[in-house]
Amino acid sequence: MSTYTLDTATSRATPVPAPMKRLTVPAIRERKGGEPIVMLTAYTMRMAQLLDPHCDVLLVGDSLAQVIYGLPSTLPVTLDMMIAHGAAVVRGSHHALVVIDMPFGCYEESPEAAFRAAARVLAETGAAAVKLEGGAAMAPTVRFLVERGIPVFGHVGLTPQAVNMLGGYGARGRSEAEAEKILADSNAIADAGAFALVVEGVVEPLALAITESVSCPVIGIGASAGCDGQVLVVDDMLGMFERTPRFVKKFDDLAGRISAAVETYARDVRAREFPGEGQIYAPKN
Ligand code: KIV
Repeated sequence: MSTYTLDTATSRATPVPAPMKRLTVPAIRERKGGEPIVMLTAYTMRMAQLLDPHCDVLLVGDSLAQVIYGLPSTLPVTLDMMIAHGAAVVRGSHHALVVIDMPFGCYEESPEAAFRAAARVLAETGAAAVKLEGGAAMAPTVRFLVERGIPVFGHVGLTPQAVNMLGGYGARGRSEAEAEKILADSNAIADAGAFALVVEGVVEPLALAITESVSCPVIGIGASAGCDGQVLVVDDMLGMFERTPRFVKKFDDLAGRISAAVETYARDVRAREFPGEGQIYAPKN
């Protein structure tokens, strides 16, 4: 059924296109080796609205720790925070598949604990899938969730929740032994049933080897253009921060543009030029 917007001045009715059907987990899985998958993080309703027409996947990343809350790492993020932001992103989108990060501490202990947390995420947000970090040690948990109807997006390589084990956020897979382990981890997670895999911060030959080796789509971040898709933190690619990691390309300078707009606003307020004629209410209309 079509809907219309009515312009009351001209009485002209304009048809509103039917909402695009949301992409599904199988549809993303089938993109292995095909058209690259476009993925960005989103944390709020309005940003989800803006990204949705252009993206295949919106990730409610636990990077909201640093981006939204100014926390030093992703470790303090709670399930309730992920659920609140996840629900907002689902409300702001109708096309992209929404995937929500499982925060540190709510899934590592046991498959059962992971299931309870992931079930809450899907039930309370309306998102289609969860993402969790880790390699072979997490494979039984991935299988447990997938067999019980919870689609899982894996995340290997540089796994920020393991920053204390890794000793920092530097690129992974530089030694042969580490590259072999990350490749084995990727295969373990894919074989356990993950429908896609983020590969973060690894040297390019390893990213290409993983993409070639695993059966599901590989989404790179700081990896290679040869992956099955790419993801970035949206605030990074929009230029909201002065300093960003090497792998980020700034597609805009929003920080600079916001700063300029606010400078103009402040000047107008101080000069009593705002609000102007167009922004005030007359006593009678
Ligand atoms: O939390 C996040 O934003 C992520 C992406 C960087 C992949 O996990």
